[in-house]
Amino acid sequence: MPERAIGVFDSGVGGLTVFKEITRLLPAEELIYLGDTARVPYGTKSPPTVVRYALEAASFLTERGVKMLVVACNTASSFALLDLKERFSLPVIGVIEPGARRAAALTRNKRVGVIGTEGTVKSGAYTRAIHALNPDIEIFSAPCPLFVPLAEEGWADHEVAHLAAREYLAPLLEQRIDTLVLGCTHYPLLKKTLRSVLGEGVQLVDSAEETARVVSASLGEHGHFRSGLPGAHRFFVTDVPTRFERVGGAFIGTPLGGVEQVELDKS
Ligand code: DGL
Repeated sequence: MPERAIGVFDSGVGGLTVFKEITRLLPAEELIYLGDTARVPYGTKSPPTVVRYALEAASFLTERGVKMLVVACNTASSFALLDLKERFSLPVIGVIEPGARRAAALTRNKRVGVIGTEGTVKSGAYTRAIHALNPDIEIFSAPCPLFVPLAEEGWADHEVAHLAAREYLAPLLEQRIDTLVLGCTHYPLLKKTLRSVLGEGVQLVDSAEETARVVSASLGEHGHFRSGLPGAHRFFVTDVPTRFERVGGAFIGTPLGGVEQVELDKS
């Protein structure tokens, strides 16, 4: 089992922020990444559609014998985590729970902001997860739909991103939040912009870093750590790879080569 790869999926390139943190923390692990680029975004789709997409993506990875599934997408984690855990008998790690735990630990004034896709915010998944840890924490959520295309366009630090961030975050700042959960895998790319709009008084919770820690803990728990040389990484997408290679390479800071296009089994 330790020799098997970790399967990671997202609707597109956003999950590479999680992928990057896992490889940084666990360099010996082999990883298989699937970006469902033909059907991105998940953030505007209905829950049953996201569940179906997530099950198909997970089947693709389990057919390749992965030892663990990492749902590197907040929208899919919000809607499909339970279905995935029911369907597959291997550890399934989502990004909501780790982010929620960190936010609950960090907040001092018990006023936490959560930003994410429309789907993630509507699902209330972060509110439930944070309240399960501490019901006294007040949560203020805001969807930030423009952040995903801005990150994909390579405009994370652009003036337009600053303008959008000021608009989206103003209501949260009015609520005097001291912690902000980046509840979408694309948002860590905008950290610099968000930091400059929020100032130093608000702590940012990056679900990618937290999720990598949970992945490591789960591997340890199951005795599934791979040791030895740096593990190989394989990338699959459901649409032509050109854009994924270009944008994804910029995301993780190294060129992405050999990305394969696949069709997901609809069974
Ligand atoms: N990766 C998705 C998430 O974390 C954002 C992109 C999408 O809407 O599919 O929710």
